[in-house]
Amino acid sequence: MSGYVVVGTQWGDEGKGKIVDVLGEKVDYVVRFQGGNNAGHTVIANGEKTVLHLLPSGVLHKQAKCIIGPGVVVDPFVLLEEIKVLEDRGIDTSHIFLSDCAHLIMPYHIKLDELQEERKGDKKIGTTKRGIGPCYADKYTRIGIRVGDLVDWNIFKEKLADTLAIKNEQIVKLYDKEPYEYDELLEKFRDVREKLLPRIIDSVVEVNKALDEHKFVLFEGAQAAMLDINYGTYPYVTSSSPTSAGVCEGAGVSPKKLDRIVGIVKAYSTRVGEGPFVTELFDEDGETIRNKGNEFGATTGRPRRCGWLDMNVVRHAAIINGLTDLVITKIDILSGFKKLPICVGYDIDGVMYESIPASLEKVYRAKPVYEVLDGWDEDISTVRSYEELPENCKKYLKRIEELAKTRISIVSVGPDRTHNIYIN
Ligand code: GTP
Repeated sequence: MSGYVVVGTQWGDEGKGKIVDVLGEKVDYVVRFQGGNNAGHTVIANGEKTVLHLLPSGVLHKQAKCIIGPGVVVDPFVLLEEIKVLEDRGIDTSHIFLSDCAHLIMPYHIKLDELQEERKGDKKIGTTKRGIGPCYADKYTRIGIRVGDLVDWNIFKEKLADTLAIKNEQIVKLYDKEPYEYDELLEKFRDVREKLLPRIIDSVVEVNKALDEHKFVLFEGAQAAMLDINYGTYPYVTSSSPTSAGVCEGAGVSPKKLDRIVGIVKAYSTRVGEGPFVTELFDEDGETIRNKGNEFGATTGRPRRCGWLDMNVVRHAAIINGLTDLVITKIDILSGFKKLPICVGYDIDGVMYESIPASLEKVYRAKPVYEVLDGWDEDISTVRSYEELPENCKKYLKRIEELAKTRISIVSVGPDRTHNIYIN
């Protein structure tokens, strides 16, 4: 075993954090390959709960080198703060490194994220306003500043001057706001540079070497397939590719080196932010799922939108990722429902779709086509073998496997590390 990918198959918050934690004990490397500090996972460090946004969930396994890869956008202030929080709790952080190719989120990116969202009014995307989209935009218009640019201070100074001139023009002319002071910004980065220099590496060489030596490298996705910039419900998506293809691009590894591609599927659906959600529930069932599943944002406490499992979504994720395995999480939350509808397709203007149409308007018009399965009453959180699961729960799982054409290898029945059923 060497290259192992963990990705979300829905809209994020599937419980990837727990699964990475379960796998983490055996891992030599844990690598993030996309996104920025818009992820959010709760880790328990020395008895204290910490919510991390940029560092991968695998960071607590100190035997594992923890790498923020080339495809990530890094807010250096957030990174240093997260490192400090861990250090204050007595956690060794000497295993945390970042790629010289990763792009820096600058303070003006955060400002522009806020201003762009405000300008869109009720058409806002619902971004986390952490500068991630504007940073990726600069990367692709080739005016981004990379982590590696910090190594040579003169290069950094020059790049900052060039880019700031463009960004200030936008801020002043388009939004009528105060420009950023070059000297002030530069000063902030002097300190950042000092602290980050020892952690900056050529991660492409390091990660490929590890894979060639058959070390266990875990690629940890943030967000999920439906938020993919190409294959999600554009424009209500994130600015990167949280898929196995994103691993190749964002970590600099060949698809040949990815041995297992594991999709995390929550047994029902949730979504935060704006955008279409075909199986969304607005009734008591939705409320029950939200409360039982504690479906509130890890940082904001915002209630998540909840709904039944949408297999069009999971199937889409299985295809674009080439999933080898599924891990089903939070199925314990479904105990007690008499009936469990599974969405097997969309009816759009009388036509049945088993895929996600590119047209957002079509997805908004989609009516879920449900197959209704019988539920189970038993509390399954203490079950540790597949055979002991209630028959109706097994049928629910079987149907997921059939519809996704992918095997289930782990069923998670509770939040704890030990709350798992392994299926060979
Ligand atoms: P992502 O990496 O985005 O998936 O974040 P996350 O893993 O932290 O997801 P989220 O913030 O939604 O947290 C999931 C919560 O559900 C965490 O508190 C987990 O401990 C918990 N959890 C994970 N798996 C299960 C499960 O099978 N059953 C129950 N009841 N809780 C679970």
